[in-house]
Amino acid sequence: MSKPFNLLFAVSEAHPLIKTGGLADVAYSLTAALKPHVHEVRMVLPAYRAALAHAGHLEPIATLHVAGSDAPVRILEGEVPGSGVKVWLVDAPFYFDRDGGPYSDPHGHDWPDNAARFAVFARAIVEIACGRTGLGWRPDVVHCNDWQTGLVPALLALESARPAIVFTLHNLAYQGLFDADVFQTLALPAALWAPEALEFHGRVSFLKGGLIFADRLTTVSPTYAKEIQTPEFGYGLEGLLAHRARHLTGILNGADYGVWNPAHDPLIAAHYGPDTLHLKAANKDVLQRQLGLPQISDAPLLGLIGRLVEQKGIDLLLSVLPALLQHPLQIALLGSGEKHIEQALLDAAKHHPQRIAVHIGYNEALAHRIEAGADMFLMPSRFEPCGLNQLYSLRYGTVPIVRRTGGLADSVMDASATHLKAGTATGFVFDDATPAALLHTLERALALFRKPAQWRTIAACGMRQDFSWNKNASAYLALYREAQATPAA
Ligand code: ADP
Ligand code: GLC
Repeated sequence: MSKPFNLLFAVSEAHPLIKTGGLADVAYSLTAALKPHVHEVRMVLPAYRAALAHAGHLEPIATLHVAGSDAPVRILEGEVPGSGVKVWLVDAPFYFDRDGGPYSDPHGHDWPDNAARFAVFARAIVEIACGRTGLGWRPDVVHCNDWQTGLVPALLALESARPAIVFTLHNLAYQGLFDADVFQTLALPAALWAPEALEFHGRVSFLKGGLIFADRLTTVSPTYAKEIQTPEFGYGLEGLLAHRARHLTGILNGADYGVWNPAHDPLIAAHYGPDTLHLKAANKDVLQRQLGLPQISDAPLLGLIGRLVEQKGIDLLLSVLPALLQHPLQIALLGSGEKHIEQALLDAAKHHPQRIAVHIGYNEALAHRIEAGADMFLMPSRFEPCGLNQLYSLRYGTVPIVRRTGGLADSVMDASATHLKAGTATGFVFDDATPAALLHTLERALALFRKPAQWRTIAACGMRQDFSWNKNASAYLALYREAQATPAA
């Protein structure tokens, strides 16, 4: 039996407190899966206004003094609703008690003081990590996530005694890059201004703090772990990542089947499973009605949910729309993000109101209804570190159509002749990020949809896959032990 240890999970969003994407789902479900296996786990998150509103009862338990915040920073203790994981909210109202998102204002513009906000967050985490809260609690392992926690490993490296550090990279496209003068305004230790520390081509990179100073690095799928070591996906960091390859692993995200399960999802009209797939049709009816689409049951309904950013390859879908609409299908789309993508989708829906329904905004309930009501789910991502919606789609019998990249490549089995014959096909996969490749694959899917028995076999096979955290939470546990036993430096 190995020694029990304490874990501090540091993250900038967590379902159901505050969410912009998959990171929030992972924070919720991974900590819930780890809880029984570690001595004590604490999640630490900024006390955003939205998080304060959703957290339920909170108790101030400590007061910290950290550089960058004139006022003392309080730690508020509560529980993550649903999982019961203990959460510590870093309460610096000047930085976090605002309307808007965790990273941007209500108009979608990045908060101009993001560097200062996440530096204060990081410094509070460092105090907790080093046991300087007066609470008599300290972690053996700190698990940081993405650039918002990137300063933590860098600052901990300067401490004489520190916990083991694991850093997970959820998306290399977001690096927390700021102008050089920000480094001065944050009063960071001078030793960190170096190419082998936070400096990146004359700017300061929060992400590099994680990439360089963590004992172990992970990313959220085995394929993405390889991709980011190449210039195409590495944004200039591929050399550094390749240099750290010995300490870099890809661990595929899990899905939380407590939240995402058509057998008991409270947000959908009719419950079903792989043996009762015919009951799924009632969800399609409801969705069509809700979205104002004609109630044609045999017209394939394609769903898409996501952040409307370049990563997601929506431009590919827009390019193939005219050809795609030659087929008798419908499209249900939910998302928000870059204004020009939102507008292009709204225009398409306006021109084809009987065929395309677009909902701009963030809507958790509608996301569940699309997963349950659609026949196919589209993820033409240009890159996708893991992707959760294809995992949810598999569980909902909503056959995913994905590009072979990152976690999509690691979770969907193409309906090739071989996989169909072997009964292992779960979706449709295309290689090139081109309209032609997407259209070709969509047409393959539409052709198979016209063969209901075969289609049901694919959908049911997807539903039976196990992408729960059961398997992969243990990969993190093993890594936490390894990081403690053999730190990187
Ligand atoms: P990413 O993290 O890159 O956004 P993922 O597929 O990992 O992509 O996770 C996206 C998560 O965010 C899923 O839970 C998805 O349902 C949710 N989501 C994204 N956009 C919306 C939206 N507009 N409304 C509701 N949920 C959304
Ligand atoms: C990022 C990625 C997504 C991944 C999520 C959770 O936002 O874009 O692919 O699933 O993080 O790890």
